[in-house]
Amino acid sequence: MCKFSDGDQASAIRWFRKHFGISLSQDKKYLVETRLEPVAFKNGYNSVRDLLHELIESDQIDSNLVKSVCSAITTHETSFFRDYHPFDFLSKSYFPKWIESHEPNTPWSMWSAACSSGQEIYSIAMIIEERFQSFKERCLTMEGTDISHYTLEKAISGEFNQAEVSRGLQANYLIKYFNQLHNGNWRIKDEIRDMVHFDYHNLIGSWESRGSYDLIMLRNVLIYFDVDLKINVLNRLKHHLKPGGVLLLGGSETTANLDDEWKMYNDGNTVYYSMD
Ligand SMILES: C[S@@+](CC[C@H](N)C(=O)[O-])C[C@H]1O[C@@H](n2cnc3c(N)ncnc32)[C@H](O)[C@@H]1O
Repeated sequence: MCKFSDGDQASAIRWFRKHFGISLSQDKKYLVETRLEPVAFKNGYNSVRDLLHELIESDQIDSNLVKSVCSAITTHETSFFRDYHPFDFLSKSYFPKWIESHEPNTPWSMWSAACSSGQEIYSIAMIIEERFQSFKERCLTMEGTDISHYTLEKAISGEFNQAEVSRGLQANYLIKYFNQLHNGNWRIKDEIRDMVHFDYHNLIGSWESRGSYDLIMLRNVLIYFDVDLKINVLNRLKHHLKPGGVLLLGGSETTANLDDEWKMYNDGNTVYYSMD
């Protein structure tokens, strides 16, 4: 079996950056190898090196192979009500203010742009169901997108295991909004699932199919991008935010020193961004 060299790693890093946007440092060789080894063997390659050579050299790459590599190499860490305070901000401050300042029939839309397996956007759907029933009478658009087909399938299924529902989800939400299945897993109820639409979207690809949103969640994905790409994505987001719209980033992400047009606001422990 051929060894995976530093040169292979450098080529792989360039390829991941070009196709998925993610920037891996040269010292992540172990991560690349361990994550791609199952994909390589499952698809009949003798080594990760052979798999990467095929990806990098071939003009016609099997799209299913690219999907598997993408799902293996991206990090999908997420949980319901992750970090808690952004959802507290939405529940106690953002939604009440938005409702008060808009006509009852004004449509509302949001985009969770790197939604992983859906816990983030489902958390917001549960907040709306729990606290803002009348909000549902207006036209709501809730879009969750991700580059990983594996996580999107999971998000669409709405099925989560015991460990996943034990992270961040209050017991009353679990009982109210999930059904337990025979295999012990939990499936989110249709009334919540039907509020959300999931779709494939690569943040470094075309944004033509994206709309205009009141709320954009872009949490814990910019950390995987290099500075140029962060600037590029933050700039493109501006064209997809409605006037008065709000952007939420992950706890270790910011627009500071990247794009001064974004204005930063604090509400309790939550930092949010807007163009206004
Ligand atoms: C760590 S998860 C964050 C999930 C969720 N936003 C949260 O904060 O809990 C990062 C997600 O970004 C997705 N991702 C990585 N690169 C992407 C890209 N170029 N376009 C869209 N999604 C991407 C990954 O597939 C992964 O599901």
